[in-house]
Amino acid sequence: MKKVFGLLGHPVGHSMSPVMHQAAYEQLDMDATYVAFDVEPHRLEEAVKGIRALNIRGCNVTIPHKVEVMKYLDVVDEEARQIGAVNTILNENGQLTGYNTDGRGYIQSLLQVVPELLGASILVIGAGGAARAVLASLLPHQPKQVVVANRTIEKATDLARVFQRDTTDVNASTISSAAANLEEYSIIINTTSVGMSPHVEDMPISLERLSPNAVVSDLIYNPLETRLLKEAKKRGARVLNGVGMFVHQGALSIEHWTGIYPESEPMRKTILKQLK
Ligand code: ATR
Repeated sequence: MKKVFGLLGHPVGHSMSPVMHQAAYEQLDMDATYVAFDVEPHRLEEAVKGIRALNIRGCNVTIPHKVEVMKYLDVVDEEARQIGAVNTILNENGQLTGYNTDGRGYIQSLLQVVPELLGASILVIGAGGAARAVLASLLPHQPKQVVVANRTIEKATDLARVFQRDTTDVNASTISSAAANLEEYSIIINTTSVGMSPHVEDMPISLERLSPNAVVSDLIYNPLETRLLKEAKKRGARVLNGVGMFVHQGALSIEHWTGIYPESEPMRKTILKQLK
């Protein structure tokens, strides 16, 4: 019987997840389909019950349901609890478990450019849900220090406190003082939506003091190359866009649902085709 997977979000019309997942199922020769369900916030509980009733094997969860959905699940895994959000639900005979594959997906894509994070000095720009996912997955790799810089400093301070570790110094900063010391960082990660289409001229931080040895990474994948990445390249730095994170978070969801980690290249190609 055909396996059914889905996405719970609102809106979902522009989501690229269905074509990306379909590409993975084809590669795995799996008889499966992936449906984007537009779920209004007041219907989320019913939708989650529907996963059980309809025997849907797994779902992704996206904006605006990632936090809210947790209260309707039977189990939420430790990493998702730390992040405070779920993007993947696994249905095992009616028992629903929530995972979050965003942070790990990001780290998998980062490790392809920077093979070793031990001892690194990392700047994370933004202190929202995406920053939480990135921090939760970065810290087990024991970087030397992580600084969280945010427009609203209080949110950065809260996050730095929550994620403080014996193995890594985690601190908060304003964007301007992070920019003034930018040469300190070997990895700079933008987790905000600044620079996302249609606001493609915006930049989350000035790169004047960027070290040419740094890696600058943006979670944004539309546009494929944000102004931040263009400027970083001009200054000789290596760059990483958000396509890898998107692909790997999807691949990790499929692994939760099927036990198989799909080949990521066909998924990446499908996404790039959509974005060009
Ligand atoms: P996400 O889940 O994508 O991280 P979020 O939780 O709403 O979304 O967080 C958005 C992040 O982007 C925040 O760090 C936000 O900064 P504030 O905490 O100051 O709001 C940041 N952000 C969004 N738009 C921004 C802008 N125009 N300039 C600077 N930061 C911005």
